[in-house]
Amino acid sequence: MNQYFDNNENLESNIVENKVKVLDTDFYMYTDNGVFNKKGLDFGTRVLLENIDIENKYSFLDVGCGCGPIGFYILLNKPDSVVDMIDVNNRAIKLTKMGLKKNHISAEVFNSDAYSNVEGKYDCIITNPPIHVGKNKVYEIIRGAKDHLNANGELWIVIRKDQGAKSLINDNSDLYNFEVVNKVKGFWIIKGCLK
Ligand SMILES: C[S@@+](CC[C@H](N)C(=O)[O-])C[C@H]1O[C@@H](n2cnc3c(N)ncnc32)[C@H](O)[C@@H]1O
Repeated sequence: MNQYFDNNENLESNIVENKVKVLDTDFYMYTDNGVFNKKGLDFGTRVLLENIDIENKYSFLDVGCGCGPIGFYILLNKPDSVVDMIDVNNRAIKLTKMGLKKNHISAEVFNSDAYSNVEGKYDCIITNPPIHVGKNKVYEIIRGAKDHLNANGELWIVIRKDQGAKSLINDNSDLYNFEVVNKVKGFWIIKGCLK
């Protein structure tokens, strides 16, 4: 079975234009077969965006951007910010680029397996991590953020309690001071600051 993080060029395409509203921010997001957001905005992502503090931050990295909702929300709320968006799914990257155009915003969008193609450092790294890829990859994303955060940078994560929120905190507390910013219907919004 193909998973949303696979690249399957043969999968039939059925692109849908979704109108999304998060708090006061309206944007468009294109979804398709073979990508995470096939059914529109994920509830966990919504909760993350409703809770994230993007004030006093200028550069952002959206890790596992999918169809782009996190980066879109940031750019629409902070038009002067610089946002990079990465994913391993080429179809997701294409949909993110379409969404950027439609929303009249711009970002660098590129294929990167975790941070393999990322060179810069950021004030904020945000992820709704690809749990289904497995714990090793999720931890690579969490731990690798350390090398791509500016001093005082923040790592923001949404993860369900039953998908390992507590162990994620325990297992990575050697690198970050974590704060659980909110818990909504089993989704934990976690902020990590470098130790
Ligand atoms: C849970 S989805 C989140 C998508 C989007 N950020 C959102 O909130 O709707 C996780 C994303 O991570 C991507 N992904 C999977 N493995 C990855 C990897 N090794 N490096 C970067 N992204 C990856 C998937 O393709 C998927 O788009």
